[in-house]
Amino acid sequence: MNPGEQKKALDAWETSARYWDKYRALIAQMFAPLTSGLLEEARIGIGQNVLDIGGGSGEPSLTISCIVGPTGSVMYTDPVAGMVETAQAEAGRRGLTNIQFRQCSADDLPFPDKTFDLAIGRLSAMFFVDPVRAIREALRVVRNDGCVSFAVWAPKEVNPFFSTVNDVFDRFVESSTEDPDAPDAFRFAAPGKLAGILENAGAKNVIERQLNFQIEAAISFDQFWQLRTEMSETLREKMAGLAPAQLPTIKQAVADAARRYFVSGKMSFPAEALIVSGKKSAV
Ligand SMILES: C[S@@+](CC[C@H](N)C(=O)[O-])C[C@H]1O[C@@H](n2cnc3c(N)ncnc32)[C@H](O)[C@@H]1O
Repeated sequence: MNPGEQKKALDAWETSARYWDKYRALIAQMFAPLTSGLLEEARIGIGQNVLDIGGGSGEPSLTISCIVGPTGSVMYTDPVAGMVETAQAEAGRRGLTNIQFRQCSADDLPFPDKTFDLAIGRLSAMFFVDPVRAIREALRVVRNDGCVSFAVWAPKEVNPFFSTVNDVFDRFVESSTEDPDAPDAFRFAAPGKLAGILENAGAKNVIERQLNFQIEAAISFDQFWQLRTEMSETLREKMAGLAPAQLPTIKQAVADAARRYFVSGKMSFPAEALIVSGKKSAV
């Protein structure tokens, strides 16, 4: 990414920050199985010092804060000011005192070597500017033998939470040619891709696990539509380019595609993620 593209990406996250805050309770609920899977894989426990990279509106930092307890600590990081503000405000509302906040990019972590026991990132690695550099940075700041662990989405074909909406929009609005290495939710969906990056960056014992879960919440299709179209920069951009008359047609087509995931007042989408972990060499 050139500097112009980087700025555009961060500006988009800045706009997204208010929606990630608005839907924080719903996001926490929908992605709770992903948080559990990631934290189990990273073996987070009482007393540990944990780095969260790309913490967004606060997860998994806020959950980890409770797990590590008063003898442990969490360092939340994100390059987007609006994300840091909302996460910090939420930690304040919850009275959490073992969590600190730093605005920084994964590619350039402002911490000395071996500061943390381990580093994690939920749904952030796919947006790193230079993933190999970012993973090297994560390995640099964890102790010898410390773990780095990242949760990313598996292919969109097995994630209808995204594809039911995106596929319909793609039929109506032309997409720019996609660079498979550009920052995107599905950048590391191909099995082995992020694992290869961890190995390139010098991680040992790299493991990739597939996590299947349900994205569930007691919301209607209309609430789902609002959440998806507000939170996604890609969809916000596409909607801005549509004639107003097209929107009801698109929404109806999405409703038809998503119908089977809304039963008895509840949303339930099957979902698949990859959890990719590695260790810093012990020497
Ligand atoms: C999909 S959100 C995930 C946020 C949070 N971890 C969660 O799961 O709710 C992706 C996050 O990555 C952050 N991000 C974007 N570029 C980044 C970078 N270069 N380094 C670290 N984080 C980045 C964004 O600001 C955003 O907060």
